[in-house]
Amino acid sequence: MNALSVNVGSVNLKSPLILASGTCNFGRELSEYYDLKILGGISSKGLTIKPRAGNPGVRVAECDSGMLNSVGLQNPGVDYFIENDLDFMRDSGAAVIVNVAGHSYEDYIEMVKKLDPHKEKIDALEINLSCPNVKEGCMTIGSDPSAIRYITSELRKLTDLPIWIKLTPNVTDIKATALAAQAGGADAVVLINTLMGMRIDIRTRRPVLTNNTGGYSGPAVKPVAIRMVAECSQVLDIPIVGCGGIADYKDVIEFMIAGASAVEVGTACLVHPALPVDLTSDLEKYCEDNNIALKDLTGTLQRW
Ligand code: FUM
Repeated sequence: MNALSVNVGSVNLKSPLILASGTCNFGRELSEYYDLKILGGISSKGLTIKPRAGNPGVRVAECDSGMLNSVGLQNPGVDYFIENDLDFMRDSGAAVIVNVAGHSYEDYIEMVKKLDPHKEKIDALEINLSCPNVKEGCMTIGSDPSAIRYITSELRKLTDLPIWIKLTPNVTDIKATALAAQAGGADAVVLINTLMGMRIDIRTRRPVLTNNTGGYSGPAVKPVAIRMVAECSQVLDIPIVGCGGIADYKDVIEFMIAGASAVEVGTACLVHPALPVDLTSDLEKYCEDNNIALKDLTGTLQRW
């Protein structure tokens, strides 16, 4: 038996480790560092109908315990992806999670209509209602429970593929947005995307990022993500994929105890591209030492 195998609803993963969207493109570059088939899955860069060059100027800034990005959904467009990258992801041996972004309800609907005919190559659609770096769609929809419920239910009508809704932490009540995704028919939620932040160059008194603000990720956001996973785990019936600041195997365990069925790893792989290799062997050792299957940890939090 594989002690690392987990399920996110109907999606079986050989490992809980998924590469987080936006930190691995479509996996090709990382395949030079290790064999991607050790991974549970790969979440593609956020895709849009038309290709996007992303935001101009400075788009990344290092911070204490993490980084800010304002990439602005740079991607080759969904048609190019289907033609040139989808087969690579399928052949990688990791589950294929396609991150779907948009600027309007219509964009998300058109994206799912374009992807559904390729469903035999896709394991789940991760609907990005949380990118903080574009003016329309994404986080604007993802901050409003009624909008989340509406778009999720519209997409549900279009496909049998598992729908995972990636939510933003930039809300007052994460339970309300997660429950809205569930009510709309989502198969899982992904918690969390980046926290909106800003850095200022004290010499010029201008924001470091040309877009002024960006999304903060890395080890500093982990306690926020853990809290949100734990809160949602108490109220949801659908599984949670945890994401935010994972840098070693203990972080994976922490997310699973909080309620995650699988996790996404991102920013730490920008520092150490082959990190999933270490995480895999450390998790295997943990399971062996503790005589436990990883999936049995999900939601085992003992509250005070
Ligand atoms: O700006 C970006 O491309 C970020 C995307 C995301 O946070 O989903």
